[in-house]
Amino acid sequence: MELFFKMPSKEAKKAMSNASLELGNRFSGNEYKKNAEDSIKEVTGHEYARVLGSGNAAIMAAMSTMKGPVMIPDQGGWSGFRKISEFYGLKLVYLPTEMGVISLEMLEEQIKIKSPESLFITSFAGYMAEQPVKGIYEICEDNGVILVEDASGSVGDPQKKLACGDHSHILVASTGSPKMVNVGNGGFISTSDQGMFNDRSFILKALQGSPVTCAGLVEEIKGTPESLVKTIKACEFIKKEIKSALHPEKRGINIAIRHDEPKSVARLLRNKLKVNGGGMITTCPRYDRINQPAICLEVKNLDVHCLKKEKLRGIVDIVNNTI
Ligand SMILES: Cc1ncc(COP(=O)(O)O)c(C=O)c1O
Repeated sequence: MELFFKMPSKEAKKAMSNASLELGNRFSGNEYKKNAEDSIKEVTGHEYARVLGSGNAAIMAAMSTMKGPVMIPDQGGWSGFRKISEFYGLKLVYLPTEMGVISLEMLEEQIKIKSPESLFITSFAGYMAEQPVKGIYEICEDNGVILVEDASGSVGDPQKKLACGDHSHILVASTGSPKMVNVGNGGFISTSDQGMFNDRSFILKALQGSPVTCAGLVEEIKGTPESLVKTIKACEFIKKEIKSALHPEKRGINIAIRHDEPKSVARLLRNKLKVNGGGMITTCPRYDRINQPAICLEVKNLDVHCLKKEKLRGIVDIVNNTI
């Protein structure tokens, strides 16, 4: 069975190569930037957007004017949240979760106890289970906490539950490889709070993305709703067939499978599930996924053309015969 790692679309590659020929032309550079910002504003519903050099650059920009404490989930977040808050010398506080997923009661209680200035979450806990972002936002809003949602895995959610400007103060995302907006590099930040953007104007300029990234982003963002839906559906299909899959009922773009020997089983699976151009098997415990031994099938890494039923059935058979 042939599987392929997700690559930027043909259109994105063409747009990027054309833009590269115009590097240094300030007028066309500004056009690429403006078009990319318009596409981000359209997909997120936020009023202000900037393309930056990476997802971590977007997190750095978001944290740059914060004083802390920064609250993050105890697992299923992004390790960059920890590294960047340490870099800025900000106090970190942890929010206990249910295998990465935030419970609203716990959030309310912990905000009262730990008084964070901000909460950084990813739209999907560990890419595997949707967070109740609207409920989280309402609690943050009521308690004066800035909610920063890392939407690297969820841009274009047609249900508008994730990566939606109506219920996040700041959205950040990586558009590197392999992400939902799969440009191969770059990231973005957006908000509807003009003051927040003005306060960060220097760092936003310092960390800005190139016109080449902007050109690719405009093309890639067009396909995200479709590829997100296909990836979620593929995970739903696989989860139904694998007994020890975690979060069976939640939307997600990868699958964590509980296992006592994740390293050795992952080696076997990597030999049987070869992916041209990359891989799809990772192991836990890991902060970015889940704090317990498990194997992850990173379905989000696959080209959407590999998400057809026959291939998914093939993946399920290999996994069930190996674990
Ligand atoms: C959820 C999430 N946020 C941020 C990043 C960092 O993105 P970048 O590599 O573009 O800095 C990653 C990278 O894998 C990620 O998975």
